[in-house]
Amino acid sequence: MPGRRVEESPIRPLVAFSAATNLGIAGRAFRFEGEVPEATRALLLGFGAREDAHADVVVDHAGIRPPGRIPTSVADRLDRAAHWMPTTRATAAELGDRVVGLRIAISLVLEPKTAVLALLLAEAGAEVSVFAFAAETDDAVAAELAARGVAIHASSTATPDEERRHALALLDGRPHLLVDDGAHVIRLAHAERPEIVAGLIGATEETTSGVAPLRAMAADGALAVPLIAANDAVTKAWFDNRHGTGETCVLAIVRTLDDDLFGDRVVVVGFGPVGEGVAERLRVLGATVTVVDTDPRRALAARFAGYATASIDDAVGDADLIVSATGVPRTIDAAVLAACRDDAVIAVAGGAPEEVLPPAGTRIERLAPHVERLHLPGGGSVRLLAGGDSVNIVAGEGNPIDVMDLSFAVQLAAIAALLSGDRFPPGVHVLPEATDRHVAALAMGADIGGPVPSAPVGWRRTRFDIEHSNDTTQTSVSDIR
Ligand SMILES: NC(=O)c1ccc[n+]([C@@H]2O[C@H](COP(=O)([O-])OP(=O)(O)OC[C@H]3O[C@@H](n4cnc5c(N)ncnc54)[C@H](O)[C@@H]3O)[C@@H](O)[C@H]2O)c1
Repeated sequence: MPGRRVEESPIRPLVAFSAATNLGIAGRAFRFEGEVPEATRALLLGFGAREDAHADVVVDHAGIRPPGRIPTSVADRLDRAAHWMPTTRATAAELGDRVVGLRIAISLVLEPKTAVLALLLAEAGAEVSVFAFAAETDDAVAAELAARGVAIHASSTATPDEERRHALALLDGRPHLLVDDGAHVIRLAHAERPEIVAGLIGATEETTSGVAPLRAMAADGALAVPLIAANDAVTKAWFDNRHGTGETCVLAIVRTLDDDLFGDRVVVVGFGPVGEGVAERLRVLGATVTVVDTDPRRALAARFAGYATASIDDAVGDADLIVSATGVPRTIDAAVLAACRDDAVIAVAGGAPEEVLPPAGTRIERLAPHVERLHLPGGGSVRLLAGGDSVNIVAGEGNPIDVMDLSFAVQLAAIAALLSGDRFPPGVHVLPEATDRHVAALAMGADIGGPVPSAPVGWRRTRFDIEHSNDTTQTSVSDIR
């Protein structure tokens, strides 16, 4: 690859800031002081930063100064995450006494942001329990939560059998509400604990790859509970999937490879919000990006955004890096791997099980933390990052705290909606639009006090009526002319 090592690249301050703080760059205000290298400034603005002379976060010739103190203990990490999650805190406060005495089960990546969500629900009076898969469990955070009274069913060393037992133990706690991620636990509940499904008031789903099977279940009449697809709220997918995941996946790849990807040929497979965010950042880094999407509408969108588009077979042959952002199993299968050039790098931003599925007979060699070489049985090899799981979660800190602030505020608003007395029949529902707007208003710092309805659309008055208007208090621009 022709890229530069991180230490010698203008990307260094961004990588260091993200790794040290787990805060986002997109949407954040930065104060530029003194001689900031032009290339670093361009990267920051390209990643969605704003320049503001009054901002708390300072960029100077040495790099980006992290705001506040860098936490040393787990408790500090949780406090720091809570500090940067004001929208989640505000939404939790709006729950009032609605969750008092309810058992709420959470299946999410177990790290400080999820801990903040769990503790806020516990403070609001719920009995909270948490399950996470081994690769997505931070044991220190799990222990801290357990010490604060949250039931934990997770361990970073759990085997697949133990993970299953942990998930069943979560269900055996007879939750009233389930916050799921990837629809893994809700599907397990339908298969193995139908009596527990019958006791659920409702559930919420965090991500796209969970919403898809749930919609299929609902279409087959197999989904027995009302479920709010938190993922599909505008305040979630337009920020978490596109900006948070785009930014953190690209920075995690750069960090893991110690290569700034400048001048690389990169293929992004899947151009949903995640692929769009990944492709945008790769282009800002100076990579040449080709987009593959099997949905012609999304391929067209990629073309209009200025990317080359191709079929996966045509695209991967000379690529240095292939990023799967589909969330669809077997996206990078044996045939795709065989078409890759020797030593190409494969990373996953989506994170569905078996999104990368090598052929039988593949030999795995560990090269570095989160980097493995797959020796393919037909000859040739590729490098796989993060074991084919989401690269930002396994080889990074996951989505930025301030982005998860929006996602978890949406989750809490979804729980409030399920408890509101509005009738949600079994099936997949979206967050009511007025509630989605309310969460965004809170994030903008405007507490409007309740759901924010859209402005009414006056459909009666058409262009034909303008000529005959009786309104003498106003005039049309054409009359003035
Ligand atoms: N890593 C994270 O932190 C994180 C955060 C949010 C979402 N996600 C996951 O990222 C994935 C993508 O999310 P999204 O919201 O962009 O999803 P999406 O469904 O909106 O977009 C996926 C795109 O991939 C395309 N696609 C599907 N199969 C394909 C194939 N074989 N070849 C080419 N294109 C294909 C689809 O047409 C679609 O346009 C999901 O799995 C989601 O759960 C990960």
